[in-house]
Amino acid sequence: MENAADSMARGDITVQELLWGQKLSKSLLRDRMNLIVASDVVGCGDEALFPPLLKTLRQLCSPETTILMAYKPRARFERMFFDSVLESFCVSRVWNRLLPSDCYTETFSAPVDVFEIRLRTEKSSREEGANFDFRTSYPDAIFEE
Ligand SMILES: C[S@@+](CC[C@H](N)C(=O)[O-])C[C@H]1O[C@@H](n2cnc3c(N)ncnc32)[C@H](O)[C@@H]1O
Repeated sequence: MENAADSMARGDITVQELLWGQKLSKSLLRDRMNLIVASDVVGCGDEALFPPLLKTLRQLCSPETTILMAYKPRARFERMFFDSVLESFCVSRVWNRLLPSDCYTETFSAPVDVFEIRLRTEKSSREEGANFDFRTSYPDAIFEE
């Protein structure tokens, strides 16, 4: 919210808070999203947040919406989130990199992925790489706990 203050002052963008799983405001439901950017939202350390996060993403998405989600694997239980994501969405990995060591505050450093996520439709399911295989790409050994 604070980061957006300058842009808000110029009238470029509007900002509103959104709590995952809660009823969306009329304006959010009316203005269909082209792009949703989510960074490090799976690694909150609480699997109870996965269903409300997924509910909000489903509500905000139309077949025209792209979600770009940055993710750094930390705990094994995070795979549950992506199992659920794949039921309603197609997921392809568009970026995968180990960041410079000074970007990591934790002792544990895994590569960061960026996923492109789209609502699952007949068309999107057919696209190449649309069903990212989390189990193969994130074997047990990659996780810290
Ligand atoms: C690990 S932080 C990532 C922060 C930032 N996106 C980044 O990449 O630096 C996880 C973020 O998820 C958001 N979050 C956690 N639970 C939430 C909830 N129930 N509803 C909305 N946002 C939530 C909070 O904004 C929190 O800052």
